[in-house]
Amino acid sequence: MKEKIDLLCIEIENKVNAAENKKILNNLKVEYLGKKGIITELQSGIKSASDKKEYGMLVNRARNAFNSNYDRKLQELELEELNKKLETENIDISLPATNIPVGSPNILESIVEEVEEVFMSMGYDVVDGPEIEEDKYNFELLNIPKGHPARDAQDTFYIEDENILLRSQTSPVQARTMLSAGGNTPVRMICPGKTYRRDADDATHSHQFMQIEGLLVDKNISLSDLKGTFDVIAKKLFGENCETRFRPSYYQFTEPSVETDISCFACKGKGCSLCKNTGWITVSGAGMVHPNVLKNCGYDPKVWSGFAFGFGAERLAMLKYGINDIRTFYQTDLRELKSFDRRDV
Ligand code: DAH
Repeated sequence: MKEKIDLLCIEIENKVNAAENKKILNNLKVEYLGKKGIITELQSGIKSASDKKEYGMLVNRARNAFNSNYDRKLQELELEELNKKLETENIDISLPATNIPVGSPNILESIVEEVEEVFMSMGYDVVDGPEIEEDKYNFELLNIPKGHPARDAQDTFYIEDENILLRSQTSPVQARTMLSAGGNTPVRMICPGKTYRRDADDATHSHQFMQIEGLLVDKNISLSDLKGTFDVIAKKLFGENCETRFRPSYYQFTEPSVETDISCFACKGKGCSLCKNTGWITVSGAGMVHPNVLKNCGYDPKVWSGFAFGFGAERLAMLKYGINDIRTFYQTDLRELKSFDRRDV
């Protein structure tokens, strides 16, 4: 038996050494250590061996001989493979790199960020609110009860029943902010966000659009504070020479209500097609927060007052960048989006 194992070990060494590739090496593993392999069969002879200990040791020697030869050869073959790969796969670093098209900031996002920065510098928080909203916040707390004709102006998408809707304005965030502030601290917030109305899409309407809501509540706030604030933002966005004015308007949640205009930057007030020959362009709705709204949201109108405003973000971007179709923001035409790229690269 000992001689047989000695011969087997020599045979293993020779055969493993001669293996030219991993496949052949693996076949040898099957031949010797597989289910019906030579060493496996020898192992099963242990039961009938007269000296089981001696027999077992000899078989183990053969197994170890196979394993150590196998491991060494495998390493050798893998190294060979790697060297061959390194020889054939050389990289030409002088080849021009692949030109990967890079994206650019979305123009609507950019304008929102610009507005956010101005308001943050004046101590405003930027807050968020749900797009799927309750009727209570979108209308009722804002002084627009069920059945009120003011609701008709905002053709709303209702979901499931008449209490859950896609918000038709960002104004519900006013109510949410005041309610969570608790009625005894000042509030300064802006809320940029998506809004939805059942409008047919055309050059100036989109069923989804973006508003930037603003709210300030404190003591002794007057319309002149709103005028001063609007003046700052208008000059930041449209230049130092931009003039502002208020025109009387009507919103259920503000009293008095105004439309805020900027002087036309295209004709400098002389009159042109952009300003419809008026010299002025309307950019937002605003007003003093209605006492009912303050009360509904936990603020005593005898103590607190405030102003609110709502910008249309697309309108700001269209004016600022001379875009004449709101749909451009929502179409995925890369050429169009690329033309909005305002980076100097
Ligand atoms: N929510 C109004 C709209 O969608 C815009 C607006 C007007 C918001 C006056 C305000 C405001 O906060 O005070 O037409």
